[in-house]
Order: sequence, then C-alpha cells, then structure tokens
Amino acid sequence: MRRPLVAGNWKMHTSYSEAEELAAGIRDRARAVPVEVVLCPPFPWLELVRRVVAGTDLRVGAQDTYWEASGAYTGEVSPTQLRDLCDYVIVGHSERRALFGESDEVAARKFKAAIGAGLTPILAVGESSEEFEAGRTEEAIRRQLSPALDEPLEGRFVMAYEPVWAIGREVPAPPEHAGSVAALVRGELERRGHDAANTQILYGGSVGVTSFPEFLAQPDLDGALVGRVSLDPEQFSELVQMAALSEY
Ligand code: PGA
Repeated sequence: MRRPLVAGNWKMHTSYSEAEELAAGIRDRARAVPVEVVLCPPFPWLELVRRVVAGTDLRVGAQDTYWEASGAYTGEVSPTQLRDLCDYVIVGHSERRALFGESDEVAARKFKAAIGAGLTPILAVGESSEEFEAGRTEEAIRRQLSPALDEPLEGRFVMAYEPVWAIGREVPAPPEHAGSVAALVRGELERRGHDAANTQILYGGSVGVTSFPEFLAQPDLDGALVGRVSLDPEQFSELVQMAALSEY
C-alpha cells in the first residue's frame, strides 16, 4: 500500500518569523496523522523548520539541489549538505525549468544525486500549455522521465505530475486528466523496471480544499504537491486531514 503524501512547496515566500509561524501552525494542526507530510521552505529556513517540527511526524524538504557533493560551485547547495537538514528535495520543478533553464538531463542528474545522498527526491514533470493543446502530453512526460529513469535507482523517490498550464491558476487540471497521466507515469516506471507499485505519484497545480478529494479518488494518484495553499496553515492542514481520511 502506498501512503498518501502531501507536500507543501513554499517557493520563495516567508520571512524568518513567518516561516516559524507557518511551520508551527501546521505542526499544531497536523502533528500526528497517518500520512506523509513534507514542508519545503526556502533553503535558509530549513534548519528553523526542522527544529519547529522536531518530535512530530512532519518532514522537511528542500526545493532544489545541485548534483555534486562538494566543490567550487558558488551559490549551490549539495544533496549531502541537505541530508544533514532534511529528508526530501523537489527537483525539476517547472519554475526551475522555465526560469532557470533546467533541462530534463539536469533535473535527472539532481534526481539521481539526491537518491545517492539518501534523500527522497520529488521529481516534478509536466507538459507546457502548447504541448497540452497540441495533444503532446504523453510525449512530453516520456521525454522528461527518460533521463531520470534510464538506470536502476537504489533508493526511494516520489513523482509529481504538474502540468505547467495548471500551476498558479484559479482551477486545477481536470482530475481525470491528472489520473491518466499518473497512470502513464506508473506505466513508464514499470516498463523501465522500477518499483512502480510502491512509488507515490502526486498531482500539483492549483490544488485546494475543494478539488483535492477528486484527485485523491484517482487510483494512480497518492497525494499532492501544493504551492499557494501550503502557505495557509489551516487550509494546508485540511488537505492533510483529507489525505488521512482517504486511508480508511
Ligand atoms: P500552486 O503551485 O499550488 O500554487 O498552483 C503548485 C506548484 O508549483 O508546485
């Protein structure tokens, strides 16, 4: 059985005190639930958030990583450095791809380096609006997955399907579309000899309390990667409760 997982991507939001308050607000509402909950604050607040949630089931993740372990890479943070601070890391988010020119190969290197360092990467893939409109979703997803899944992976990882056209919008993608792409991702995992049955696949893109149950109802979706709503402790905790209820 795959455990539901709800991850909050805080992006480049929160000051020090806001991060402390947000993490404490989530901790106080969702400290002991039978689901995986991962808070992904900006790098400088990782240690702070880790302290705030210490002793609970809540976990901490970073939003990006470099692939080398150490060296002269000014401004970068390595997966081994992150390993001392957190358990998860998002890689290949569409904002990294679109704003910082990350290719599928770069995302794949980060993904593999994170696994190698003992982190659980959350690999985000998703088609652009042009690809979606041209009916090329499957092709885009396969292309993005290909360099990441091209060799045996010794360690746990999570997949996130985030259609670019549904991020930061009023409404999410249709849940059935997300469900069918999640099935495609699972099929690719299987075809390439990875542990498809036990790999959690999340949906991301404008998830909110009204839409989340429909995503949870999709057999190949195991939770969500949440942006804006993760900055609201009440609503984020509500998503966590919904995921917990889906367990029964
Ligand atoms: P959103 O962001 O929930 O604000 O649409 C999702 C994401 O970018 O992971």
